[in-house]
Amino acid sequence: MTQNILILPGDGIGPEIVAEATRLLNALKDRFGLAVELEEAPIGGAGYDAAGQPLPDETLALARAADAILLGAVGGPRYDQLAWELRPERGLLAIRSELALFSNLRPAILYPQLASASALKPEIVGGLDIMILRELTGGAYFGKPRGIQTREDGVREGFNTIIYSEPEIERIVRSGFEIAMKRDRRLCSVDKANVLEVSQLWREVAERVAKDYPKVALSHMYVDNAAMQLVRAPKQFDVIVTENMFGDILSDAAAMLTGSIGMLPSASLDAQGKGMYEPIHGSAPDIAGQGVANPLATLLSVAMMLRYTLNEEAQAARVEAAVGRVLDQGLRTADIWTEGCRKVGTREMGEAVVAALAD
Ligand code: NAD
Ligand code: IPM
Ligand code: MN
Repeated sequence: MTQNILILPGDGIGPEIVAEATRLLNALKDRFGLAVELEEAPIGGAGYDAAGQPLPDETLALARAADAILLGAVGGPRYDQLAWELRPERGLLAIRSELALFSNLRPAILYPQLASASALKPEIVGGLDIMILRELTGGAYFGKPRGIQTREDGVREGFNTIIYSEPEIERIVRSGFEIAMKRDRRLCSVDKANVLEVSQLWREVAERVAKDYPKVALSHMYVDNAAMQLVRAPKQFDVIVTENMFGDILSDAAAMLTGSIGMLPSASLDAQGKGMYEPIHGSAPDIAGQGVANPLATLLSVAMMLRYTLNEEAQAARVEAAVGRVLDQGLRTADIWTEGCRKVGTREMGEAVVAALAD
């Protein structure tokens, strides 16, 4: 059965990196029998330019109908002065929320070839393989009340609400246990339970869910300590489960353990396993249009899509192996380049991965 993939290039480097993902998917289709059809639609600033909205109605309708979605990145200085609801980031948040993509998997895996590209010493990051599970449709990102208001004394104040219901906590924590069961069976729940009531509830629910998973060792860690531990001794973690904003921040930090933020893919899944796939990085306005962005996080997001939504494990493994081969060949985009390697651009990297696909 042919599956439909909706491609949302977005802004900045989005179209450049997504072009390589499209090249890869077409190669899997032509050479390895992957049964997919690709369709493209605008989102973010591109959505605003095309239809006056960061998430055009038509894009949302196509997203609902698609079997899987691949997104590049959204945002950029051109759009920063737009009214709040028209900003590109609102489009990304809206599609996550509309499709109920609450479970965001962000694997931080160090390819051994990149040990020297990491900001940390090879012995600290060697063999690193951690999974950060970020709650994606709740917390401060969506909580109400929110806004900017003027007090009676004329002073302006901005406010947001971090709110999580028990069912919202339970479903993401449960996903964390399920993932841990397939890995090293260690789940670290990261919170701020020494300060925030919402974290107290989170901890309570995590303890309750843990009773259903006696084989998984559950631990709790405050988020400030977790940030420190991630750079001190990241291999102590197997699976981390955390709320939306903490997960956003910790995953960018974890990305640097792997050499570059250009290496970290992600899957955002709903309760049925349908999903949107995207690199965790942004639209990188500082390098957009130069053809130098690292496409590997996006290509590895395609691998996650093949694995988690399209049920094509062999194709996923094929893509990941091809990335490994290209790194073995010494090809590096600027962000992961080290002495003795060959510096390549976005397109050359994408073409090399396609050329390295093996039977
Ligand atoms: P960013 O992730 O876009 O860039 C941070 C730094 O990492 C930059 O120096 C950039 O050049 C570099 N970088 C990022 N991806 C790279 C890649 N593939 N290859 C090489 N280098 C890469 O974060 P930012 O600068 O804080 O945000 C820029 C814009 O992107 C903002 O509008 C922000 O809202 C948006 N953003 C979007 C997403 C998304 O679409 N998922 C995620 C984060 C930020
Ligand atoms: C990410 C991004 C987004 C987030 C922004 C652009 C809304 O930083 O995907 O990590 O904060 O979730
Ligand atoms: Mn982020």
